[in-house]
Amino acid sequence: MSPLFRSFAKVNLHLQVVGRRPDGYHELRTLFQTIDLHDELEVDLVPPGGEGAGEVRLEVRDADLPDDARNLAWRAARAYLDRWGGDHGVALELRKRVPAGGGMGGGSANAATVLRALQELLGRPAPADELWSIARALGADVPFFLVGGTALGFGRGDEVLPVGELPSTRLVLAIPPVEVPTPRVFAALGEIAEAPLAPALLAAARGDRAVERALLAEGWNDLERAVLPGWDAVAAVYTSLTGSGAELVRLSGSGATVFAIFRDPPDLAALGARLPEGTRLEAATTLSRAEVAERWRASPGGSPWK
Ligand code: C5P
Repeated sequence: MSPLFRSFAKVNLHLQVVGRRPDGYHELRTLFQTIDLHDELEVDLVPPGGEGAGEVRLEVRDADLPDDARNLAWRAARAYLDRWGGDHGVALELRKRVPAGGGMGGGSANAATVLRALQELLGRPAPADELWSIARALGADVPFFLVGGTALGFGRGDEVLPVGELPSTRLVLAIPPVEVPTPRVFAALGEIAEAPLAPALLAAARGDRAVERALLAEGWNDLERAVLPGWDAVAAVYTSLTGSGAELVRLSGSGATVFAIFRDPPDLAALGARLPEGTRLEAATTLSRAEVAERWRASPGGSPWK
């Protein structure tokens, strides 16, 4: 049976944009959080000499996404094999549930899962610093997914520092039926004022267990000021959630996903009826690093998505 891995998504509990960088990227201060919404990845190593040796083959199910070098999972496999694979090949089957262009790092998570899966299956740990630089070259969000749980992101978001973890928290994810292209969001930001670190980030950096309360009171996402005026579908979902009694409503990354925290778990069907048509609603729970480590290896015979 093929080895099967879970590729968990993230939300950004907090996101500050504090400057433009000479490399064209933006300088971020963010707090990442793994959630249990995930894709599944089957990873079959092809031994040297076998059919497909040296090659990366990718099949994508449940989403209309490229299955070649345009897909980050493919590129991650290619980069890993080029460096540490010898003449091995790999056949990947990716079953998508995390939306593309959703601000939950789906493609980046897939890339990191491929790197970790190949490391495990080839049985030779790659030097951590080299794995890290491959992850950074794949995309700014990829390094976070090698860490998981609650973690601060600095620089392009790729300088990652694990911090004291958020207590298990239930979220409602509202996913409008639009893709928001990240480069357009950053381009639409306008002037970027210098700003001190949010108190919530400082609390997280201290490993403060009250991080949850600090976030509710103090966190925000600077990208909302570009996304909400520019994408009506996202703004409509945001406004509906705000009017539904949520304690916290926030855009994840550059959207389109908006997440909400409620004091008491809401009835999703009733909530869905209040949201714009076509909005996908998912109940999700935050995961700690230990939970990610326990759950990322799925049993092939087990029920999917659980
Ligand atoms: O690294 P990644 O390919 O995920 O980034 C996608 C795009 O998002 C970049 O090309 C850039 O336009 C924008 N971005 C940015 N600053 C960041 C992260 C992403 O401007 N820190």
